[in-house]
Amino acid sequence: MFPKDFVWGCATASYQIEGAVKEDGRGASIWDIFSHTPGKIMNSDTGDAACDHYHHYPEDIQLMKTLGLKAYRFSIAWPRIIPDGNGQINESGIAFYDSLVDKLLEAGITPYPTLYHWDMPQALDEKGGWLNRESADWFANYTDVITRALGDRVKNWMTFNEPYCIAYLSYHEGVHAPGHKHVSYREANQALHHFYLAHGKAIPIIHANSSASKAGIVLSLSPVHAVTDSEADKAAAVRVDGKTNRWLADPLFKGAYPADRLALLGADGPDIQAGDMEIISTPMDFLGVNYYFRTVVGDDPNSPFVEKARYVDLPDVPRTDMGWEIYPEGLREILTWVQQEYNPPEIYMTENGCAVPDEVTAEGVVHDPPRSAYLKAHVAAAAAAVEQGACLKGYFAWSLLDNFEWAFGYDRRFGITYVDYPTQKRTPKDSFYTYQAIIRNNGLVE
Ligand code: FCB
Repeated sequence: MFPKDFVWGCATASYQIEGAVKEDGRGASIWDIFSHTPGKIMNSDTGDAACDHYHHYPEDIQLMKTLGLKAYRFSIAWPRIIPDGNGQINESGIAFYDSLVDKLLEAGITPYPTLYHWDMPQALDEKGGWLNRESADWFANYTDVITRALGDRVKNWMTFNEPYCIAYLSYHEGVHAPGHKHVSYREANQALHHFYLAHGKAIPIIHANSSASKAGIVLSLSPVHAVTDSEADKAAAVRVDGKTNRWLADPLFKGAYPADRLALLGADGPDIQAGDMEIISTPMDFLGVNYYFRTVVGDDPNSPFVEKARYVDLPDVPRTDMGWEIYPEGLREILTWVQQEYNPPEIYMTENGCAVPDEVTAEGVVHDPPRSAYLKAHVAAAAAAVEQGACLKGYFAWSLLDNFEWAFGYDRRFGITYVDYPTQKRTPKDSFYTYQAIIRNNGLVE
């Protein structure tokens, strides 16, 4: 089953939980601007207050203790550390994470911070954001500042969360900040190439400033299945796999973008300078994998996009409140594939969870059987992956708290703890206790 020292954690992200967006010298991020742009976020929600974790973090650490959590994955807001992204350092911003880390360690919980979970300082976007090649050096500088500050106590670092989303949702579909929409993948690919350079440059900086530390990146991966056995649909699945999985993992592990997708992209591929691929494929200590659903596709010669595929919503399959198919087997499949294809030294499941339309009952509790069932089924799939040779070292549930779910605002609840936003009251849901039992048993529960 799971090794004795298996790391059971929960994950969150800065803009989704912190609030306090104008406090203690924090600069604006691209998400502050995007969320305040009419029409971008469901119900016009913003992260201005979110879970007010910035003030409630001692209480949130108490929740983690009750849960029996071994590790906590959170993200650091770059605009708190360097408000304009590349200039003056904001000591009060550092002080917040300093205190968070100290209190986690006092509680016996290992911190796993992510350096970039999407909240780029707005001032940098005004200089071109990730489309500017200099962004790699802006990020390297920020990495240097924060790892000097916390590197004595933090020993596990993640550079970027979900390159897929940063590239495609932000610079292709336009549904995430800074909201660029194009048919072409040109911008998405160039942005990705630049933040992959940033990632590669950050790894040695982390190791230099934080002795005996481990560093990795977090990819959201999804097995891509053809909707039928026809040759055309199977070929479409290979093309979409190129976009969804291999485009992101190959450069990091193989030092090259996948040739089939490069050929499809033609002139829309990234500009690559001499030495770039060596930087991008700097060896890492672990790979983080986020898994939520599988992808089912068919051939579509009329699609405007180079994959020439259509995304298929299978009828009669169980789905979460996001509409995402519940497919635990995909977690095993993706982990064993990653192990065979890329052989990372260690893997963490860095996010996995589901949205449920939760309500607090008159008795003041939250019954969320679908989430408990989801957790159990996915932990079972993780155990199967371990048995089949995946070097899985930990599992982080998404999420500790209900939070600001990006374009869906507060309309979708992913927490194992319910947050009543007007009062900021936290109520552990039934699934909180399911996860507590899983942690206590170091694995599956009935
Ligand atoms: C992932 C994100 C995370 C959260 C979950 C539901 O794509 O990394 O911030 O929104 O989805």
